[in-house]
Amino acid sequence: MNLVALHKRDDDESFDRDPEQSFTIPARYYLDEGVLEREKEAIFYRSWFYAGHQSQLAEPGCYLTVMVCEQNVIVIRDKSGELKAYYNVCQHRGHELLFGSGKVRTITCPYHAWSYGFDGELKAARNTEKMVDFDKCQFSLKPVQVELFCGLVFVNLDPDAKPLREQAAGLEDEIREYCPRVDEVGFAQRDDYLVTTNWKIMVDNFLECYHCAPAHKDFVNLVDMDSYSVKLHGIYSSQVSSAARTTESSAYSFEKGEVDFGYAGWFLWPNLTIWIYPGEPNISVLQMIPDGAGRTIEYQDWFLPNPEPSQQQRDAMIYQRDVLQPEDIGLCESVYRGLQSKGYNQGRFVVDPGRSELSEHAVHHFQQLYVDAMDCGL
Ligand code: FES
Ligand SMILES: [Fe+2]
Repeated sequence: MNLVALHKRDDDESFDRDPEQSFTIPARYYLDEGVLEREKEAIFYRSWFYAGHQSQLAEPGCYLTVMVCEQNVIVIRDKSGELKAYYNVCQHRGHELLFGSGKVRTITCPYHAWSYGFDGELKAARNTEKMVDFDKCQFSLKPVQVELFCGLVFVNLDPDAKPLREQAAGLEDEIREYCPRVDEVGFAQRDDYLVTTNWKIMVDNFLECYHCAPAHKDFVNLVDMDSYSVKLHGIYSSQVSSAARTTESSAYSFEKGEVDFGYAGWFLWPNLTIWIYPGEPNISVLQMIPDGAGRTIEYQDWFLPNPEPSQQQRDAMIYQRDVLQPEDIGLCESVYRGLQSKGYNQGRFVVDPGRSELSEHAVHHFQQLYVDAMDCGL
């Protein structure tokens, strides 16, 4: 990793723990491939990473695979009903074991058919019976931490990482307040996007509604901006518009749901956002994954308690996919181009003392977590 580049800075560069005093992190952190390599080790391979939903792992043998940046991981439900996770690599000569998602009776490698149990132990390895000193116990799959959180499946490559429930204490209660049926929902739809920007630009963008009035005319018609508040908590932050402004928005029309509110969204370090739209029950997660310093893969997974979306739920998903997301993607791609300009390095967070709905303190909160994780001398 290019620590030299990280430490190479203009003399007047600064980042302050006080958001009202602080400049934003310098542009090169969004542009440099060496920075991304450091981020993988310092952030993505040490943090809880969204992998899927419990409804995709309903029975023993059901599995899914997830790429944590370049690390391929299997999550599988074992015979006793517990979730297990392993690096998705055969201990013989390194072939990948499982692909996509599905259901299996054993984890069998397609290359030479070594076969592993759901406990990760090597059960069968053809033609090894007569080998000297071949001990199957030495070739178990390498485990990865896995945790269920509000029905969402997370993995963490750091064996010493504290449980997500502990790291994000309070988040589960907040999600349940706005989506009381979170345990009943199942996977409904995935929308994906390939965006020409750095992943942190997308996180920065999610974390403030200062841009909502100029850039999202339908969103500010859906939510009550006077009740919009942005709160910081450890490794997550929340954005809630507690009052519904209307049920006849230009975003979409809806009947008041079990919980009457405008919008609830959370950011969970390092790259996940969780959304609940007003109206009939719904929850979605949107994850931003770097694919190079200048490319971000975005997935939004929707979960609903009913097997088929109602018209209103469909309208909410269409609004998000066809209106709000393209608006945000346009902003983030422009900022990525702008950060390459020789005419820009650092800006200021607009943070008011009352931390109003227009304040960018949650962007600073994310960047503070980032500066601490990267230990980059800012
Ligand atoms: S690499 Fe998997 S059995 Fe050979
Ligand atoms: Fe936005």
